[in-house]
Order: sequence, then C-alpha cells, then structure tokens
Amino acid sequence: APTVVRTLPSLRRALERLRARRATVALVPTMGALHEGHLALVRQAKKRASRVIVSIFVNPTQFAPHEDFGSYPRTWKADLAKLAEAKADLIWRPDVSTMYPRDFATRISTEGPAMADLEDRFRPHFFSGVTTVVGKLFIQCRPDIALFGQKDYQQLKVVTRMAADLDLGVKIIGVPIVRERDGLAMSSRNVYLSNEQRARAPALYRTLKDAAGRLRNGDHLEAVMSDGARTIEDAGFSLDYFEARHAETLSPAGSLKDGPVRLLVAAKIGDTRLIDNLGV
Ligand code: PAJ
Repeated sequence: APTVVRTLPSLRRALERLRARRATVALVPTMGALHEGHLALVRQAKKRASRVIVSIFVNPTQFAPHEDFGSYPRTWKADLAKLAEAKADLIWRPDVSTMYPRDFATRISTEGPAMADLEDRFRPHFFSGVTTVVGKLFIQCRPDIALFGQKDYQQLKVVTRMAADLDLGVKIIGVPIVRERDGLAMSSRNVYLSNEQRARAPALYRTLKDAAGRLRNGDHLEAVMSDGARTIEDAGFSLDYFEARHAETLSPAGSLKDGPVRLLVAAKIGDTRLIDNLGV
C-alpha cells in the first residue's frame, strides 16, 4: 500500500526514503474523487519514473466563493484503494491549514496562457489559485516530472509556463483525455449530473468531433464554430465558450493553415459546468 503523509515533516522524511538510489520522481497533483482519468496519469507516471507521488488536496484558493468548494466530492477511502491498486508510492494529503497557515499571504500568478480569455474569463481567480498550489506542491515534493491531463487544456499550458518561468526544474507531461464510452470526458464533477443531464452531456464531445471533422474537410471556420455553438445550446446547455485556438499559444485561430488548432468548450448544464477540448 502507498505511504500516506499529512504533514510537512513526514513528507520530508518520506521523500528522503523515496529519493534514495537516484530514483526519478513523478508527481500527479489531484483534488481526489479519483476516476480513470486520474489513474491514466498515475499509469503514465509509473512508465516514466521509478517513484510516483500523488497529491490529494481540494484547493480552496482556486474556487470562487460561489463555486463548489464545500460540496466538491471527497472520497478518501475509495481514492486510497484505487491508488494502492495503481501502485502509487506516496500519497501527499495535507490539511488546508498545512497548505495555507493562518497568515499565508503569497500568490503565484502568470500571464500569457492564463490570460487567454477562456477559463480565466469565467473563473478570474482560478489560475492564480492553481499556480499557487501547484508551485507549492512542486517546491514541497521536488519531482523530476509532473503529469497533467489535457482535459484541463489551459491549465496544462499555464502550469507548463509557470514551471519554466520559475526554474522549478520539473518537466511537465500532458496526458490525453480519458472518456466514458459515450464520449463524455471523465470528471469528478460528473457525479453532479442528474440522469437526464447525464444523457445530454455527450453532446459536447459530439460537437467537438463534428466540428473538427468539418474543419479538416475545409469548411469555413466561422460557420463551423457558430453551428457548433448553436448545437450545444440546442442540447440544453448554457454556453460559456466554444473556441478555435492555436494548440500551443492559445491565441485565436483564423484557419488551419496557421498551425495546429485546438477546439475548446465550456458549458453549463443546470448548475454543473463542464469543459472539454479536442485537437483538429
Ligand atoms: P483535478 O480536477 O482532480 O484533476 C487532476 C488532474 O487530472 C488534472 O491534471 C486533470 O487535467 C486530470 N484529469 C481530470 N480528468 C481527466 C480526464 N478525463 N482525462 C485525463 N486527465 C484528467 O486539476 C485539478 O484537479 C487541480 O486544478 C490541480 C491541478 C490538482 C490543482 O489543485
């Protein structure tokens, strides 16, 4: 079974043992409520490193006051069983007061991808919460590599920028999205969906796939994107964005000629906000 640590002194002792014999160390940051998407990151980490740390921390600084920090699913027993099965070596599961002591007053924030006018437009506090906690996790765990899902595509770009800018010496690896059989991207938040909402949710992926196919066929980008937006709204979603961006810079894409394009979508179904994306 993995070693579970909950305080900084015990993390330090566990890391000393882990680091012995020149092990390469991978970190997989999570907020728990683990599903096959998270476990794909752990499996990829096992392939690329000799030791795997998984952090589980529902990070309050990336939630706005009106968001779901309080109700975010917490499934520790099941998470532990899954990580034992996946053969993670170490689980770092700090309390909020360990991560953010009472007088905590520092923020890490980034520009560039964090200002791409996608998630940042709808969740203005989100990325500085993410970079602050991920920066702390990197400093605490000193991994050689860290793995992030393409599910949170902008987050992957923001964290890559932050790690490079702060010379943290961590190589960031992006892992493809794991989906349910009907195409819905796995997410800890999918448990919020009613049966009726769950049945409609695959419309997001279907729209991404249709749009990518049409773009590859040479259809006009503006028409494809406005048709896609309408399809998503017709499926009962309230759309935050449906955008075509350059896959690397996240700047708006005018056509496929200017390099690889990524389609990104965020939409609410009832009170639940879902995101997804696909390369063209
Ligand atoms: P969380 O939503 O728990 O996701 C943890 C990691 O799992 C992220 O890198 C995310 O992109 C990846 N992931 C989630 N669903 C996935 C799927 N269906 N396929 C592939 N990867 C998937 O993202 C966060 O937590 C937090 O913001 C965190 C980075 C831990 C900072 O608090």
